[in-house]
Amino acid sequence: MSFNFASDNVAGASRPVLDALVAANGGPMPAYGTDPITLRVVSMLAELFERDIEALLVATGTAANALALAACLDPWGLCLCHEEAHVIDDECGAPEFFAHGAKLLGLPGTGGKLSPETLGQAIDRLPRHEKQMPAQVVSLSQATEAGLVYTPDEIAALAAVAHARGLVVHMDGARFANALVQLGCSPAALTWRAGVDILSFGATKNGCFAAEAVIAFKPDLVRSLRFRRKRSGHTLSKGRLLAAQFDGYLRDDHWLDNARHANAAAARLSAGLAGVAGIRLAWPTQANEVFAILSSGMDAALKAAGTIYHPWSPRSLADGERLGPGEALVRLVCSFAPEPSDVDGVIAAARSAGR
Ligand SMILES: Cc1ncc(COP(=O)(O)O)c(C=O)c1O
Repeated sequence: MSFNFASDNVAGASRPVLDALVAANGGPMPAYGTDPITLRVVSMLAELFERDIEALLVATGTAANALALAACLDPWGLCLCHEEAHVIDDECGAPEFFAHGAKLLGLPGTGGKLSPETLGQAIDRLPRHEKQMPAQVVSLSQATEAGLVYTPDEIAALAAVAHARGLVVHMDGARFANALVQLGCSPAALTWRAGVDILSFGATKNGCFAAEAVIAFKPDLVRSLRFRRKRSGHTLSKGRLLAAQFDGYLRDDHWLDNARHANAAAARLSAGLAGVAGIRLAWPTQANEVFAILSSGMDAALKAAGTIYHPWSPRSLADGERLGPGEALVRLVCSFAPEPSDVDGVIAAARSAGR
């Protein structure tokens, strides 16, 4: 028996997404994103976000982030983000590469979150001289790399600090759906109404096979995006097959169902593990990821029982929380696919090791 909680991406694509792909496959259609499915998906996204938007579809989250940030940054510009953000830690420098040399600056914060104070002070401390790179963008991960969600009020407070200093607000929404269903608010409330200017709208982790959208809420950010996408090799010639994934994903709120399923699995796993001796949670479980601090014996027992997960960085633990000798901080991610029995299998393995 094996329980794979290594990543959201251990799951394949969901059935409605595959069905939509098959339905879109027949017959000729215009290429390069000028097909009726792409146009329909952009309208669906505009309806979802309750306003005119510009949406560009791409196949990976790294491409979405790198293109979005490049559209907002001069080559000499600085993007502030959390020190453990995917954009700074896990994209092999793609944002800097796509933005022709712009730089990312990581800031500390508990649970992967930036605070308005940290952000404001960091920007205000930067020297304002042509020898130094000026801050132009702040990037927020929703949910964060520690599985926490920013509320609309928290985003608005950060956006107020950023906008007052002339910065653009980018949101890396690789797990946007998981944050949205946790908060129970609208996509508009979680983005442009709170001050987000440009969003990487993730869909791959939550049911698509390779589909993400860059959604710009400010028309002037869009000017360069199409050229940047093509120039970087991210304009798919058979664009309808990219759009079809979104068609299946968004239709009948399938994406929200998937996110609710993933979050419920994580809540079940979190509650079960937290009740076992030798395990404590590193951060509360607010989306589809569980971060647990395990004794070395528990870590070995879970692995021996076939549970697959990754170690995680303790850098953004709360003040006063730290790993004891031999303890490990690990991340277990629930995709949209696990059955309650998969979750219960891990909890049972932990309980029997904890006895
Ligand atoms: C916070 C975050 N942003 C973006 C991504 C997108 O990455 P990829 O390029 O693998 O689709 C990920 C994937 O792990 C992520 O966790």
